[in-house]
Amino acid sequence: MTTTSSTTSPDDNRGTLAPGSYYGDPIPYLPIDGYPGKIIAIEGTDGVGRSTQITMLREWLEVQGYGVIETGWTRSELMQPTIELAKASNTLNKLTFVLLYATDFADRLEKEIIPALKAGFIVLSDRYIYTAMARAGVRGVDKTWIRNLYGFAIAPHLIFYLKIDEKTLIKRVLQSRGMDYWESGMDMKLGDDIYESFRAYQRSLLREYSSMAEEYNFRVLDARRRVEVIQDELRRQIGAFLAEADTTKPAEPALVGGM
Ligand SMILES: Nc1ncnc2c1ncn2[C@@H]1O[C@H](COP(=O)(O)OP(=O)(O)O)[C@@H](O)[C@H]1O
Ligand SMILES: [Mg+2]
Repeated sequence: MTTTSSTTSPDDNRGTLAPGSYYGDPIPYLPIDGYPGKIIAIEGTDGVGRSTQITMLREWLEVQGYGVIETGWTRSELMQPTIELAKASNTLNKLTFVLLYATDFADRLEKEIIPALKAGFIVLSDRYIYTAMARAGVRGVDKTWIRNLYGFAIAPHLIFYLKIDEKTLIKRVLQSRGMDYWESGMDMKLGDDIYESFRAYQRSLLREYSSMAEEYNFRVLDARRRVEVIQDELRRQIGAFLAEADTTKPAEPALVGGM
């Protein structure tokens, strides 16, 4: 959905949905106002085709001369080994699960995303906080609580949601890498076997993502189409956004030295 009017509930203390600003209380020692970089998030469930699209986008952007960094869920140097360990030992409870992911995101935000924004890079984010919210949501974590937890996140400039139905997803995952224990929600004991569990878990996850589409201004793309068709659509929308951003830049001169 491309609507820019957003609905916020009264008990919701996220201050703003302005792209490039903190959603809620800022990281106090890291002001980010006026940073020239842009965050483009590609959201969607496991196996929907995010990595495929991001690889192609990166090449296209770099050819045009943009500096690009990629960041992705659980890829922080600090947290990746810990998350792997916790998954392997199968001892994650709900709260530690949520907090480990939040720590991973915080680490990448400070070390990768904010420096890149400052330097004028385009940050291609393979999943963003909405995946964490969807996963927490299906595990019954309170919505306001998780939104407040991620108040330190920066609202992306563009959020693309690759939307797929459960049937097409299952076909795609079986044809490629197979079903993963965690992506099947096996910790939640939703079904007798991994196939049943994957189906039930992904169905709930897809519902969670959809419920966020309007609130966070997702640009919803039909991910059932061919790779090239989806890529063309992404390039068209990102190209239009960047062209607009480039032309508005000179209208916002930096205030130097209080002049
Ligand atoms: N639009 C598409 N149609 C059919 N297969 C696709 C499409 N996009 C990706 N795939 C295939 O699906 C599998 C998962 O894609 P991938 O990009 O790794 O997903 P993700 O990063 O979202 O988990 C890969 O084998 C990929 O080639
Ligand atoms: Mg991937």
